Order: sequence, then C-alpha cells, then structure tokens
Amino acid sequence: MNIAIINGPNLNLLGTRETGIYGTMSFETFLSGIQRQYTDHQISYFQSNIEGELIDRLQQCSQDGTDAVLLNAGAYTHTSIALADAIAAIPLPVLEIHISNVLAREDFRKTSFIAAKCIGSISGLGLKGYELGIQYFIQTHGVNG
Ligand code: DQA
Repeated sequence: MNIAIINGPNLNLLGTRETGIYGTMSFETFLSGIQRQYTDHQISYFQSNIEGELIDRLQQCSQDGTDAVLLNAGAYTHTSIALADAIAAIPLPVLEIHISNVLAREDFRKTSFIAAKCIGSISGLGLKGYELGIQYFIQTHGVNG
C-alpha cells in the first residue's frame, strides 16, 4: 500500500515541543522505525506549517497513487473549513490522528472541523496512534473498498 502521513503546524517540533504532552521522540526517528518495520509498504511523510500546503498535498495524494492518508492537522483541526473541504473533495480514506487526547484538553480542542470528513479518529495514544492507523489501513485494504 501507499500510505501518506501528513502532519500540520508545529509538528516539525516533535521531540522538543511541550514534551510532557507530545513526548521526546522526533517524528523523523519514529518514521524511520516505522519505514523499517513495514518494508512491504510505501509510507510517505509530509509536514507543513502552512494550511494551503496541507491542502495541496491532500489534493496531490488523490493523483499520485496514494491509497490512504493519516492526517494530524495540528491546530488547523480546530479552525479549518478549507481542510475539511479538501478531505471531502478527495476519494481517499483519511484517518484523523492526534498524539494527545484532545478531548481531555482545552475546550477549543474539542471541536474538530475535519472529523466528520474522516473515516475515524485516533487521539491520545501518542505516536503509537500513527502505527495503529497504518495497521488499520493494511489490514482493511481491499476489504472496505
Ligand atoms: C495535536 C492536538 C492539537 O490540538 C494541537 O494543536 C497540535 C497537536 C495532537 O497531535 O495532539 O498541534 O493535533
């Protein structure tokens, strides 16, 4: 499978950013472990702090052979109608990922503009959530169409 991981704003700082919430591992370290583990699959990674670049990448995914997307939209989760529209506009399954448990934090994090356009959400399981998402896509590929 071709699985795209898309991370939004400030997630380039994982490993040093609010480590009590997001942990001490950089995403690059985590990703290289995952790519070594799932060698039968292509797992691509894109991060941007810019909303429009995240939208461009989502649109590109629908044309470059990507089968499924894991999207951690960061704070744009709670603000971006444009990202929600982009998810709705592409025919690919998109899984919403959050490292922290957004429902246990500030009230503004309890609203997700993208959740209803995604096939589901994983929140609060740390970086493990990405791996569980990958396993979900691999195990259900071709089963759910
Ligand atoms: C986050 C949660 C968001 O509320 C926050 O703005 C982030 C990261 C998470 O992975 O827990 O940047 O998406």
